[in-house]
Amino acid sequence: DTFKEPSQREDSKKQIKKHLEERYTSGKNKWFFTPLRTLSSTRYERRAGGKGANQAVSIAKAGGRVAFFGAAGLDGTWMLDDMKAAGAGLDGLIKNEGPTGRAIIQLSPEGENSIVLLGGANTDRISQTKCDHLLTSTPHTHLLIQNEIPWQSTLLALQKSHARGATTFFNPSPMPSPEQLRALPWSTVNWLIVNEGEAKGLYDALNTDGGQVTAHATPSSWPEDPTLARAFSILVSLRALSSFPNSVSLVCTLGHLGVVVLPAGSETLYVPAAQLQKPVLDTTGAGDCFAGYFVAGFMEKGSEAVKELEEIVTLAVKAAGVCVTRPGASGSVPFRAELS
Ligand code: ADP
Ligand code: NA
Repeated sequence: DTFKEPSQREDSKKQIKKHLEERYTSGKNKWFFTPLRTLSSTRYERRAGGKGANQAVSIAKAGGRVAFFGAAGLDGTWMLDDMKAAGAGLDGLIKNEGPTGRAIIQLSPEGENSIVLLGGANTDRISQTKCDHLLTSTPHTHLLIQNEIPWQSTLLALQKSHARGATTFFNPSPMPSPEQLRALPWSTVNWLIVNEGEAKGLYDALNTDGGQVTAHATPSSWPEDPTLARAFSILVSLRALSSFPNSVSLVCTLGHLGVVVLPAGSETLYVPAAQLQKPVLDTTGAGDCFAGYFVAGFMEKGSEAVKELEEIVTLAVKAAGVCVTRPGASGSVPFRAELS
């Protein structure tokens, strides 16, 4: 819905309502609109997740040394075993009585989902003081951060890491509020990793002069595709906003289309998605797999990373292409050795 004008959005809401009412009255999917509040499930699965955890696992599987900062309750210890097995460092983990943050995902027989998010231990316990202490006591060259801990702690982490010379990567998911995005000290962000929806959300939040996304033709060597063209236009328009500094490099993942990169000060890059060896099974965590491999690539290449950008992105896309053919999120991230 984010790409629609407000008037069209209303239309589509009406259409959805009509569609659901039709289904209800026709007897199909009665459970969906039925006034019952209690439903029985047919199956239950528990999987490790959280973007931070998935991305830490991905860096580790890609061969990078990673220290995970986050909080988990006693109910989340099974998840930590998975992270340890992947090789993610857990010294910076804050343990408490919980509950561990989680997403409760209800899946309908048709595969539609409805998600309830519980921030849990992360939202309650990662204070700015804790964050400050962890970052000061852990030497690091790169920071990869999402929006899963209190916003003030996220800002502090970006500021601290950047000030000590680390390269910072910010994956603003779940999306911060427009106010938060406008007040973000952007000079502390070196790389912004987003998907198309997040790029548009960011454009809308930062576009305070009421302009519109303007169409920009993609370079002639890129495939002709309306989604790719639209995403490219959003990214170029975002970059052109006076409220968005030119110093931030942009990475936008585009599902089956691959990845577009607008590095600060060097040429735009498009890397198509990997040729899959098997059919798509579960795309959960593909973005996290990509982000982890991307950062691990920067860690490996060091000061040469920007020159080797295409190689880094190509490997990250290859890893994500394996991830989507396997069930689960962090469990489906391939080890580096599987990619040769
Ligand atoms: P997110 O889940 O964060 O929105 P994307 O859907 O953009 O992330 O997926 C991240 C990356 O995973 C893509 O850039 C692409 O490389 C890979 N990927 C995702 N879906 C597919 C697909 N259907 N086929 C091949 N690769 C895919
Ligand atoms: Na998967």
